[in-house]
Amino acid sequence: MTIRRTIIALILLLPAAGQGEIPQFDGHEHLGVQSCAASSCHGSAGERNTYGVLQNEYITWARHDLHSKAYKVLLNEQSRSIAANLGLESAHTAKVCLDCHADYVPRERRGLQYQLSDGVSCEACHGGAEKWLGVHIGGGGDKHAESLAAGLYPTEDPEARAGLCLSCHLGTRNKFATHEIMGAGHPRLSFDLQKFTDLQPRHYRVDGDYRARKTVVEDTRAWAIGQVVASRQYLALLQGPRLAAGGMFPELGLFDCHACHHSMKDLRWQPDERSVTPPGTVMLNDSSLAMSLAVARAVLPRLAGPLHSGIRELHLGARRDAAALRGAAAALDRPLVELLAELKSRRFDDAANRQVMETLAGGLKAERYADYSDAEQATMALDVFAGITGQYRDEVDALYVAMANEDRFRPAALRAAFGAGPSSPAGFATPVVPPAAAPVVLPEAAVNRSVSATALRVRASPAADAPVLTRVYFGDVVVELETRGDWSRIQFDDVSGSRTGWVASRFLR
Ligand code: HEC
Ligand code: HEC
Ligand code: HEC
Ligand code: HEC
Repeated sequence: MTIRRTIIALILLLPAAGQGEIPQFDGHEHLGVQSCAASSCHGSAGERNTYGVLQNEYITWARHDLHSKAYKVLLNEQSRSIAANLGLESAHTAKVCLDCHADYVPRERRGLQYQLSDGVSCEACHGGAEKWLGVHIGGGGDKHAESLAAGLYPTEDPEARAGLCLSCHLGTRNKFATHEIMGAGHPRLSFDLQKFTDLQPRHYRVDGDYRARKTVVEDTRAWAIGQVVASRQYLALLQGPRLAAGGMFPELGLFDCHACHHSMKDLRWQPDERSVTPPGTVMLNDSSLAMSLAVARAVLPRLAGPLHSGIRELHLGARRDAAALRGAAAALDRPLVELLAELKSRRFDDAANRQVMETLAGGLKAERYADYSDAEQATMALDVFAGITGQYRDEVDALYVAMANEDRFRPAALRAAFGAGPSSPAGFATPVVPPAAAPVVLPEAAVNRSVSATALRVRASPAADAPVLTRVYFGDVVVELETRGDWSRIQFDDVSGSRTGWVASRFLR
């Protein structure tokens, strides 16, 4: 086989981007930061650009990027106290900490210059360089494709990048910052792919040369892909062994921290369009799912209905038992896979950006993101979009102020951040309203009712064996149009518009 053929064969053998193993588990030898940091390679003191890259990546990482300090923080007072609370000998020797705070590969995969103390090093993100180091400094051919085939991690691909970052910033079945670790004093984790990509001091420049070598995805679309990947990873965690923490309670780190952690005098419960939760329920952390739903609403309304009901089924499952929760998580993954496939091929133009922004802003104003973690995600998201479109900058500043103290957070402050008047100039795209079904003329006898069952089947006709159209949920307000025997015909809103169907009357009040 020619070299070229071999390379093509290798590429074909590679798992699709995003499904590959993250560098920690890539099976390659990790050579160490010093093998990248020569001054003629990536360790130049200033920008050089002889090879189309900045070449001072090492300096940027070592001086400005917190990833280079990730191991060192394991030696500080806070880590010492976390380790003591957990009964660990020390944080900097404990696998549970090193898994996320260093390029923690097994000894047999450490090269001569590998140093654990380098923290989250080049190869923790770019993959073990054993095979690609030679390729990417050699001459001729499409070095990038060849390097990828030799184990370079595709960080430029938003799906793969999200999987990489989230492996430490959310957790996986292999490594997770459990509630026990949080309880010992670890900071709460939250992540937004694009916001954190912007926050990480840039050691690369997306210019013409970069575009010639790599496929560039618009930042706003990368944000959307990041949210869908985070949603899927969260669902995978719910389906994996992490959920069962042992003892009576599940792994609390998978739930909304602020569902439990706030003052008893501070009554926060309010009906929520997604959660189906009566007061006093421990909520799942559905913040990335809320963002995926916003993406669907804005750019692919067809999937908004299935996602919305899937999220409600997930919350419902959490109230029932672990098997129901896992089942609902598996089912909800399907519309997310569809959404992801669409996002990979659909460019986010001005109109799409505006629609997402309006969906997010509308949701914040309507207190649809009333939990702290939801509001935090929506704020970071709006910030990403504001950075690109220039809209809503003042509101984003006000939102960050409203979010600054998580113990004193009030959902009403979200609405207040938008002030009295509309922020959008005239002619700005109006929020996307899903195409409504033919308007239903309400009969005189129509009455508002509230659903009193946890989840109530809506049927096509007034009979217990009639096909189920969908479900309505506890607390939903519906209009009772007529009654027939034990059945009521109701009109209700769902994300795909206004609909009607039949429900058992005894579950309306
Ligand atoms: C699932 C990955 C993960 C695990 C496991 C984990 N951490 Fe972290 N840790 C992080 C991330 C990500 C951050 C940064 C959070 C942020 O700023 O958004 C962090 C932040 C910290 C900080 C605060 C750093 C600073 O600059 O203020 C300390 C201290 C810390 N971790 C110690 C530990 C210790 C000790 C352990 C082991 C008991 C541990 N971590 C386990 C991912 C993890
Ligand atoms: C936390 C993850 C992370 C770490 C650590 C990291 N990088 Fe990167 N790096 C990225 C991302 C994300 C990109 C941008 C996407 C891309 O082009 O692959 C990137 C891009 C690059 C590029 C490509 C520039 C171009 O024009 O194609 C180089 C070169 C690079 N990094 C070198 C380094 C070196 C050297 C180190 C260590 C000193 C390092 N990186 C550490 C995530 C990381
Ligand atoms: C191997 C684990 C790991 C990976 C992979 C990783 N991070 Fe981190 N990240 C950390 C840890 C640990 C910290 C905290 C370091 C500290 O505070 O010293 C951190 C900190 C950060 C911070 C600083 C947060 C703050 O509070 O200021 C940003 C931004 C960030 N990461 C972005 C990213 C992005 C973007 C990616 C993916 C390209 C990524 N990280 C991949 C472990 C990781
Ligand atoms: C189901 C309720 C529940 C959820 C959800 C929950 N916690 Fe806790 N948390 C507790 C309880 C109970 C304790 C033990 C309280 C004590 O010791 O005073 C605790 C303790 C803690 C502590 C130590 C407080 C102390 O005074 O010692 C921290 C920090 C913490 N949790 C953070 C978190 C974070 C971060 C999350 C979300 C990832 C979270 N918790 C989710 C119930 C919860």
